[in-house]
Amino acid sequence: MARRLSTARTSTQRRFALAPTPSPWWRNAVVYQVYLRSFADSDGDGIGDLAGLRSKLPYLAWLGVDAIWINPHYPSGGADGGYDVVDYRAVDPEYGDVSDLEALVEDARQVGLRVLLDVVPNHTSDQHPWFRTALADPDSPEAARYHFAPPSEEPPNNWQSLFGGPAWSRTPDGRWFLHLFAPEQPDLNWRDPAVAADFERTLRFWLDRGVAGFRVDVAYGLYKDAALRDNPGFYAPTLFGHGPEQAMTWNQPEVHDVWRRWREICDEYPDTMLVGEVCLADLDEVALYSRPDEMHQALSFRLLKSAWDTGSFAEAISSALDAYGRVGAPVSWVLGNHDKERQVSRFGGGPLGAARARAAALLMLALPGSAYLYAGDELGLPQATVPDEAKKDPIFLRSGGARTGRDGCRIPMPWNSSPGVGFSPDGAAEPWLPVPAEWRSYAVAHQAEHDGSMLNLHRRALALRKAHPAFSTGEATVSTQGDVLTVRSVGTEETVRCVVNMGAETVLVRCRGTVLLASTAHVRHSARSVALPPNTAVWLVEH
Ligand code: GLC
Ligand code: MG
Repeated sequence: MARRLSTARTSTQRRFALAPTPSPWWRNAVVYQVYLRSFADSDGDGIGDLAGLRSKLPYLAWLGVDAIWINPHYPSGGADGGYDVVDYRAVDPEYGDVSDLEALVEDARQVGLRVLLDVVPNHTSDQHPWFRTALADPDSPEAARYHFAPPSEEPPNNWQSLFGGPAWSRTPDGRWFLHLFAPEQPDLNWRDPAVAADFERTLRFWLDRGVAGFRVDVAYGLYKDAALRDNPGFYAPTLFGHGPEQAMTWNQPEVHDVWRRWREICDEYPDTMLVGEVCLADLDEVALYSRPDEMHQALSFRLLKSAWDTGSFAEAISSALDAYGRVGAPVSWVLGNHDKERQVSRFGGGPLGAARARAAALLMLALPGSAYLYAGDELGLPQATVPDEAKKDPIFLRSGGARTGRDGCRIPMPWNSSPGVGFSPDGAAEPWLPVPAEWRSYAVAHQAEHDGSMLNLHRRALALRKAHPAFSTGEATVSTQGDVLTVRSVGTEETVRCVVNMGAETVLVRCRGTVLLASTAHVRHSARSVALPPNTAVWLVEH
């Protein structure tokens, strides 16, 4: 027997209003995150590249996203998946060259897609010419652009690397240098004006080539406590990001001036934007990065970390709507990315995980603001098991294998059902990370032909999100009742709902409306109610 539920009585209620129109494109855009190295390989070296991505633009246009964000494409030391940049105004030859990037931007424009790049201002590679000079000559101007400390027995303070171990390593001549990530990623000293000036050149270099803006890596970093005081606590990965235990290394007030300056630069280029990676525990602090004169958006990672229950999802949604609403910014929702376990696996794996991932996708795409969709999530890819000897992630390597690392969510995309899954041309080198044999069944070509596939679910949802702007621009109310979560959005023309059943029993939801889309074919509905099986979601338009 289905339990009866009425959505009229609610246990949690929050309200949120988007800023008045006119609405720039990024406020409610769906941005597709391309892990470049794993997207499509055009030249057969087993590594995804810009020409490969260019060849897949028709796919992305067909899918219906508005923009793409490309993980770092720069020449890199290769220590952290490209987040150790050697030259910020160039393209790694593995991926192509600057003309390939220009061609990508132009082709993307022709099919209605904007291109965002990833900029990495907190640290460079240890192979960057500045750091090499700094190592060779402690008195060089380049040395002042990093954090060096004189030789001593103990490191200058207790700061820890996010990838494990102390955040200080020694140079060959015995000095200490700071790296809040891997030792191959020395932190820049943003108190040196040469650092700021160089990044402004970098922004203009790419904006002049037509990119639509940047995802800003570690945007909560850059400045560190000027006196290098000890952190009150050691790094203990918290669920939602860094907190007061790391008050000396992150979220220094000075960093906001950088975003104000970068905003001014973007304002010179119409329709461009900045979206920051801000991993802080306090959502109000996160939202400050997207104040009207700072970055346009700050990624909200709450959904990505919510457990499968109505309480945590409702809290994730309403707290973000409230915090971002207070500064007038749209929430930038994230369900998956290149740093976290794939949702299908996180939600329990197998058919259960897949059902929940489908429902979660409908939930995210029904929320007001913008959404970031990680490549492969539209296929429902699970987290892959990567043999230790094939792993590349410094988190795995630096922890001596104690931490699994992020390789399992960075596997090459399956495009077709051939043995090589169509990632590289026939007869090419092995892909840079091994692709599980069973991934053929997740291939784009295969799913495109199956009406009920995860891929077609995404495609339909993206089209309906456009056709019914109430989803992305309406005034949303989040409510829960038992195992049912409802987001009701009042738009200018109509009122829409996304209803998710997170429980283990079918529930009957009363609502006068038309079903637009369901995450499963097994939803039964009449003019007055919808019977929603466990772990499913439905989109409705109210009558
Ligand atoms: C960000 C990136 C992550 C990278 C780190 C250091 O968190 O998303 O992949 O390892 O910054 O640049
Ligand atoms: Mg290649």
